[in-house]
Amino acid sequence: MQKVVIITGANRGLGLETARQMAELDYQVILTSRDEKKGEETARDLGVRFHPLDVISAKSIAALLGFVEQEFGRLDVLINNAGVFLDEKQGILDVPEESLRATLETNTFGPLMLARAFIPMMIAQNYGRIVNVSSGMGEIGDLNNYGPSYRLSKLALNGITLMLANAVKGKNVLVNAVCPGWVRTDMGGPDAERDLETGASGIVWAATLPDEGPRGEFFRDGEKIDW
Ligand SMILES: NC(=O)c1ccc[n+]([C@@H]2O[C@H](COP(=O)([O-])OP(=O)(O)OC[C@H]3O[C@@H](n4cnc5c(N)ncnc54)[C@H](OP(=O)(O)O)[C@@H]3O)[C@@H](O)[C@H]2O)c1
Repeated sequence: MQKVVIITGANRGLGLETARQMAELDYQVILTSRDEKKGEETARDLGVRFHPLDVISAKSIAALLGFVEQEFGRLDVLINNAGVFLDEKQGILDVPEESLRATLETNTFGPLMLARAFIPMMIAQNYGRIVNVSSGMGEIGDLNNYGPSYRLSKLALNGITLMLANAVKGKNVLVNAVCPGWVRTDMGGPDAERDLETGASGIVWAATLPDEGPRGEFFRDGEKIDW
């Protein structure tokens, strides 16, 4: 049976490239994006399904769950890719409260709420892979004063990864975090060292782990890295 995968924030950047690679592996891709027009066009170009999703909206998550239940009756893989980097020059002492809150809404609570929506299906079918696209900027050993909202959001996302992995212990549901490295996207900028294909391949690796694969770990390029 063709496995079904949702990718969030897949109208551009790493999400789009991940969708492309998963489709190439013959997964049934549900490309999602908060901008309906852009997402629809992108999905059409790729020959995959589309559904709108704003990861900070409970209503939008519920609508996606309803769509998946009705159309496919299962979800095998959830790739929490959507993310924002809203910090400008400020550090933790003066970053605006709105940046902190908005960044955590998207990068941290969005992935958690999506996981909570879809994990019951994964447990019921005894198969699930969840990839939280995180960042080395959230590593405990690298919490410097640049990008405070972003660092905090990914640090907390890593914590959520561990907690979710523990919550589904004993089930064939593998939850892991992946850092794609520094990648040339709108977020990464033109000077980043990696191309999209390389960045997305580490995400795809974690999305396609075998049943005995790792759980509750943090990876880059399929290699374990420190939290
Ligand atoms: N690029 C890097 O160097 C790098 C390094 C480490 C980790 N990452 C992580 O990799 C992931 C993808 O990053 P990227 O570089 O591809 O970034 P990007 O090019 O800026 O793309 C971000 C994507 O997230 C979407 N998004 C933002 N808020 C959303 C929301 N509320 N609901 C749904 N979608 C939303 C954007 O949609 P719109 O088009 O509508 O804005 C866009 O599709 C992020 O989680 C990022 O933190 C990136």
